[in-house]
Amino acid sequence: HGSMEIKNDELYIGGVNCLDMVKEYKTPLYVFDEQLIRDNCREYRKYFKAEENGNRVAYAGKAFLPGYMCRLIKEEKMCLDVVSGGELYTAHKSGFPMENIFFHGNNKTREEVEMGVEYGVGKFVVDNFYELDLLEEICEREDKVQEIYFRITPGIEAHTHEYIKTGQIDSKFGFALVNGDLYNAIEKLKEYKRVKLVGLHAHIGSQIFELEPFLDEVDVMMKLVKEIKENYGIELTDVDLGGGVGVYYTEEDKPRAIKDFCEAIIDRAEKTCAELGMEVPHLVIEPGRSVIANAGSTLYTIGSIKDIKDVRVYVSVDGGMTDNIRPSLYHAGYECSIVNKMNGDTENRVTIAGKCCESGDILINNVAISEIESGDILITTSTGAYGYSMASNYNKIQKPAVIAVKNGEITPVCRRQTFEDVLALEL
Ligand code: LLP
Repeated sequence: HGSMEIKNDELYIGGVNCLDMVKEYKTPLYVFDEQLIRDNCREYRKYFKAEENGNRVAYAGKAFLPGYMCRLIKEEKMCLDVVSGGELYTAHKSGFPMENIFFHGNNKTREEVEMGVEYGVGKFVVDNFYELDLLEEICEREDKVQEIYFRITPGIEAHTHEYIKTGQIDSKFGFALVNGDLYNAIEKLKEYKRVKLVGLHAHIGSQIFELEPFLDEVDVMMKLVKEIKENYGIELTDVDLGGGVGVYYTEEDKPRAIKDFCEAIIDRAEKTCAELGMEVPHLVIEPGRSVIANAGSTLYTIGSIKDIKDVRVYVSVDGGMTDNIRPSLYHAGYECSIVNKMNGDTENRVTIAGKCCESGDILINNVAISEIESGDILITTSTGAYGYSMASNYNKIQKPAVIAVKNGEITPVCRRQTFEDVLALEL
C-alpha cells in the first residue's frame, strides 16, 4: 500500500530501498511514508467537508506525535487533539496554532489546565466536575474566557478490544447520561462565568469497522443538542464524534474507506437533524490510527532462529514489545515480510519473537514467510499508530530512530536513543 514497491526482490518505501535505510539508520527503525500520511489527511478533510461546512478534522496526537507530525498536520490544515501536558507542549514548541487544539483527558492536572489556559487552546474537552471547577477557577484568575465541550458517555457498545472501548456506560471517560451528571454539569454553568459551553464530545472506541455504532452516536448527540437548547436555552454549535475508522493490519480486517466512513456520518447527521427540525451543527472528528497506522512500518534485523522440531520455529528480532506493545497488550495481529526477499515463496511458518525478557514478547504468532536466515531484514507493516507513542525502555532497551521517506528522500524524525539517554534521568 501507499508508496511501497518491489524492485528486484527488494522493498522500497517512498522511493527508498529499505536496505539503504537500514545501512544508514540501523535497526529497529520506524519508517513513515509521508505521502500516505498527507493523502490520508486530505481524504479526511475532503470527505468530511472540512472546507465547505465548517467541519473540522483533528488528528489524534496520541497515535504518534513528534514535532514532525505537528508541522505536517499544520501544513495539511488539520486541527490537533492532545491529551496531556506533554502532547500540548510538543505542539506548542513546534509552532502549532493553539486555537486549533482540542484538549482532552479524563484527569487533567491543575498544571495541565493552567498550561492549556495560558497557551490559549481552542477547546477544552471537559470530562468531569473536577476539571470544570478547576477550569473556571483558573480562567477567573487569568481573566480569560474558555470555550469548552462536554465529553459525554453515550452508552454505545462497539465491537473492539475491551481495552480500547470507551463509549459504554461503565467507562471512566466523560459525563454519564444515566445518572444525570451531564445535566448537573449544565446546571453548574449558570454560576460559572468563565467557561462557555459550545459543543458536545463523545468517543465510542478505537479500531471499529462497523458504521452502525458511529451512526447511533450521531443520533444520540443530535438529540442532546436539541434537548439542551429546549431545556436550557444553550445553543451548541459543535458536535465532536471522536476517533476515526478502523484500519487494516491483517487479512482478517475489513476496513471502510475514509470516504465511506465520512459520508455515512455526514449523511446521517443531515438526516437526523432534518427529522429533529434543527440545523446541522459543525462536526468534528478526531482520527488517529487511520491517518498514521498504514503509513508506518518497522524494520528489524533477524538474529537467533530456534527450531523446536514439530512444535514451532522462533525467529527473534532486535526489537519487540518495547517498540510495539500492541501484540502483547491487545493480541493485535501484524503482517511481515523480508525486505531483501520479497518474491520468495512463503511456505515457511514461524513465530516472530521480540528480544525482551518476557515470554509474552511475541510480535507475530505463526506467520507464513519466505526462507530466512540470521541477518535478514524483517519488516512489520501498519505499525505507524500507537507504536512509537507507546514505546518503552523496558530492559533498558533504547527507543529506535524514526525516519520519514518521500520521493526518494529521507527526513530524519527522531534519533535513536543512546545508552546515555536511557540513563539521563538517573541522579
Ligand atoms: N479521540 C479520543 C477522545 C480518543 O480517545 C481516541 C483514541 C481518538 C480520538 C483516536 O482514535 P482512533 O482514530 O485512533 O481510533 N492504544 C490503543 C488505542 C487507544 C485509543 C484511545 N483513544 C491501540 O493501540 O489500539
